[in-house]
Amino acid sequence: MNKFVSVKDVRNINALVESALAYKKDPYKDNTLGLRKRIGMLFLNPSMRTRLSTQVAAQQLGMDAVVFNVGSEGWALEFEEEAIMSGNTVEHVKEAAPVMGKYFDILCIRTFPSLKNRDDDYSELYINQFIKYAGIPIVSLESATLHPLQSLTDIITITEALGSRQSATAHQKPRIVLTWAPHVKPLPQCVANSFAQWVNAWGGADFVITHPEDYELDPSFTQGATITHNQDEALKNADFVYVKNWSTFNDYGKIYVNDPEWMLTNKKLALTNQAKVMHCLPVRRNVELSDEVLDGPHSLVTTQAGNRVWAAQAVLAEILKG
Ligand code: CP
Repeated sequence: MNKFVSVKDVRNINALVESALAYKKDPYKDNTLGLRKRIGMLFLNPSMRTRLSTQVAAQQLGMDAVVFNVGSEGWALEFEEEAIMSGNTVEHVKEAAPVMGKYFDILCIRTFPSLKNRDDDYSELYINQFIKYAGIPIVSLESATLHPLQSLTDIITITEALGSRQSATAHQKPRIVLTWAPHVKPLPQCVANSFAQWVNAWGGADFVITHPEDYELDPSFTQGATITHNQDEALKNADFVYVKNWSTFNDYGKIYVNDPEWMLTNKKLALTNQAKVMHCLPVRRNVELSDEVLDGPHSLVTTQAGNRVWAAQAVLAEILKG
């Protein structure tokens, strides 16, 4: 693997999941793989889980990790080709990326979408410019449209939960439901796009996406899933419910309706096959999910966040070996 920005960079999802679970059993088994190697982690946007789990993963492989909050502490970067830099941007990615490429062995980047111009966001200009100019492997810590380390974590968490479930689901595909949830502000589509892309590529599930009308996601990620506007129907017999808000894709970056009926509660959970509940975090309690669900026995959210370390470790190891 020479970059990790989408599921398309992964040859064998199950093998990567197995590698991650092996690191979970024995975190230091490859603690010299990254010796005298350095990872740079650039944040143009805030993070807690992605930042800390990737640092921990790198350290467990013997790597030095350097975090640079470029969005708040660095020079304002320009990404457009042939830009006339007479505005606020100070340094072009054409210089910044190759300079960082000399300091590090792997470069990781977090950028969010503007949610103002869909074509710009979906062109993934920022991460693509780093891939073009850095000259070293690039790992996405979440980009304008995708969050691959989160999605790998999600498949790891589902695989792990399935393994410990002594039920008929071991012999048939689990029903995985991605449900839209209300939120107080417009959020990117990244986590939902990415989860759909990974579950479809994984192929190990009966996959359903439910959302209110007008919240369709980009079909290039959802193709293969059953899509319904009826949340109750979708939840029936679900084995896993993944809760996430996203803003509109078609009339880009908006909140149309914010019906609190879409919040996942114990009453809704009763429709499922005792489903496990997932969310990438951070979560708005009693807006997206009720306290009773988050604090209840079905919630996997902190296990899921814990698994971020093993996903990152498996990906970094694969790049180091490559
Ligand atoms: N899920 C996730 O990416 O969390 P952070 O934004 O805290 O990194």
